[in-house]
Amino acid sequence: MRPAQRIAQLRDRIRHHEECYYLHDSPEITDAEFDALMRELLDLEAAHPELVDPTSPTQRVGGRPAEGFATARHLVPMLSLDNAYDAADLRLFDERLARAAGLDAGSVVEYVTELKIDGLSLALTYERGALVRAVTRGDGVEGEDVTVNARVIRALPLRLRTDAPPAFVEIRGEVYLPHAAFTRMNADREEAGEPAFANPRNAASGAIRMLDSAAVARRGLRAFCYQIVLPVDAPPLVETHAATLEQLASWGCPVERHWQRCAGIAEVEAYCARWRETRRTLAFDTDGVVVKLDALALRDRVGTTAKFPRWATAFKFPPEQATTRLVTIAVNVGRTGAVTPYAVLEPVPLGGTTIQMATLHNEQEVARRDVREGDLVIIEKGGDIIPKVIGPVLEPDAPRADPWRMPTTCPFCESHLVRPPDEVIWRCENTSCPARIRRSLLHFASRRAMNIEGLGEVVVDQLVTSGLVGTFADLYRLDVEAVAALERMGALSASNLLKEIDKSRSVEFWRLLHALGIRHVGEGGARALAMAFGSMDRLRQAPAAELQSVPDIGAIVAASVRAFLEEPSNIALIADLAAAGVRMADADAGAGRIHRPLAGQTFVLTGTLPGMTREEATEALVTLGAKVAGSVSRKTSYVVVGADPGSKAEKARTLGIPELDEAGLRALIMARQAPP
Ligand code: IVH
Repeated sequence: MRPAQRIAQLRDRIRHHEECYYLHDSPEITDAEFDALMRELLDLEAAHPELVDPTSPTQRVGGRPAEGFATARHLVPMLSLDNAYDAADLRLFDERLARAAGLDAGSVVEYVTELKIDGLSLALTYERGALVRAVTRGDGVEGEDVTVNARVIRALPLRLRTDAPPAFVEIRGEVYLPHAAFTRMNADREEAGEPAFANPRNAASGAIRMLDSAAVARRGLRAFCYQIVLPVDAPPLVETHAATLEQLASWGCPVERHWQRCAGIAEVEAYCARWRETRRTLAFDTDGVVVKLDALALRDRVGTTAKFPRWATAFKFPPEQATTRLVTIAVNVGRTGAVTPYAVLEPVPLGGTTIQMATLHNEQEVARRDVREGDLVIIEKGGDIIPKVIGPVLEPDAPRADPWRMPTTCPFCESHLVRPPDEVIWRCENTSCPARIRRSLLHFASRRAMNIEGLGEVVVDQLVTSGLVGTFADLYRLDVEAVAALERMGALSASNLLKEIDKSRSVEFWRLLHALGIRHVGEGGARALAMAFGSMDRLRQAPAAELQSVPDIGAIVAASVRAFLEEPSNIALIADLAAAGVRMADADAGAGRIHRPLAGQTFVLTGTLPGMTREEATEALVTLGAKVAGSVSRKTSYVVVGADPGSKAEKARTLGIPELDEAGLRALIMARQAPP
């Protein structure tokens, strides 16, 4: 077989198996067999680079937008849907629709009902069958171009499965995260000390905007398609919505399989009632049912309002609730000292899990809802993982406890709680509070910080309670005997833990910055600061304005970093860590090699440079301390202009901002580069 033929055959087979796995949940081959097909295709394409095609399954991952995502305009605005909350709302919708369509009273309208996927909508453009663009809904008129990330969603075809694809078609659908992928992702985040995502929708929406498409691929996003949009002058492909869904499925697009034709609104009501219960059996979140008029010609007749189509509505399921006894109200102290009340409940099943705790947010919320210890309470699982207490179910004649009061002292260290004026959150301000120390140590040791394996909750509790550890630096002074003497520890685990702690002395500098728990400095901020300054000494010398010249560092973060580094107890802590042998710089930052001659200057790139990519130019500038911005303002120092520049060049001219071409940029970089 000729290589071109074998390549075509392999691409077809691989897509077939992707469909079996991602669309039909019924794989026909093992992962190893799938990988073997992929490897054969990769090898053949490597040997015949002229046969590589962007729609090949080997070409899903790759590419990274240099300056975040560009905005793109939708062909036809992406509207949202009006809502219906009960059978009466559905009847009203049906009556309005029949009237707008000019149907006789009493005529039966044909609908299609679909599950409403709780994700985010995406518009996919296919040109001559090939996926060329994916844009988020955004404000409905313009969204973000997330093509590189949509390509890694293996449920979506890179090429439509048909010999006669339309010249141009936009396919709309919903991207979502299945429960299993969501649970796995949050477990990883918790282990890493990062805040968990509240629900799969937030997680999916965060994932589709990540700047690294390989990381997006690992998240395990899926998608369902439900709409075809053609250019206005193109003849319709089909006449009904049911046929649209069949057309999409025949092209190899994922279509949620529980859709149904309904003759009349009574059948719609029955579908909604059934799925209100049955939805728990699904592998993804659905928050309702979308009810759509089946006949496409009738849709044109009824039209849209400014916001919604008149031919569809979203029936929203009520949030899941349960009633249980509130045993007591306790408070938590976080690593920043925030004190938050929560309800300890008699265990109760709700939405597939057993609930024993629910959040009460803050003191004001408890008072507003008048929730008291011993009350029978209604709890609700909305969009968040942790359920919330809605309010008490008052039992006539049953005596109630007094209204709950926030403790005046911290239950863990007894220091007085304070609440800054105009804030609702009470705080324990004692930096040595054992509860704060425990939380801080867990964060310090977490995977995305110092990455000390084996330093989990149980060990941290014991280290703090026994008095062995009161600060981060104490970790580096532990000896094997003392650790081995802790409960359920033993000599081997103790020595493993100490090895891990020792290893953390030389982790990358950004990890230390993240681990210190500076307010507003998450992993991204820590990486940006470490990349820009390279060492604690340099960071300490940087005034707030210079901190702000770093990409992703704004005024609030800069102020917080400055405040942290100026606080005497933190200065002492950093000195103590340094004395304990913790590395305070990146390996290549020694001997003054971090050189930031362009600090405080902002560059804007526009157009294509003949000899360097946007990423290379950005990297070179950022390394020298410059900031690279997406738009021109009076603060812009230089605009770098390549071929086919956009409106940014014009704006720069109007504002009188100096321009550089590639040669000018190279000269500037060369002149500023550090001597070897
Ligand atoms: S049809 C004209 N079908 O729900 C609107 N939307 O609340 C066409 N959604 O923005 C949308 N599942 O993101 C449609 N099966 C489904 C859906 C669905 C989820 C989302 C979509 C839309 C939002 C409206």
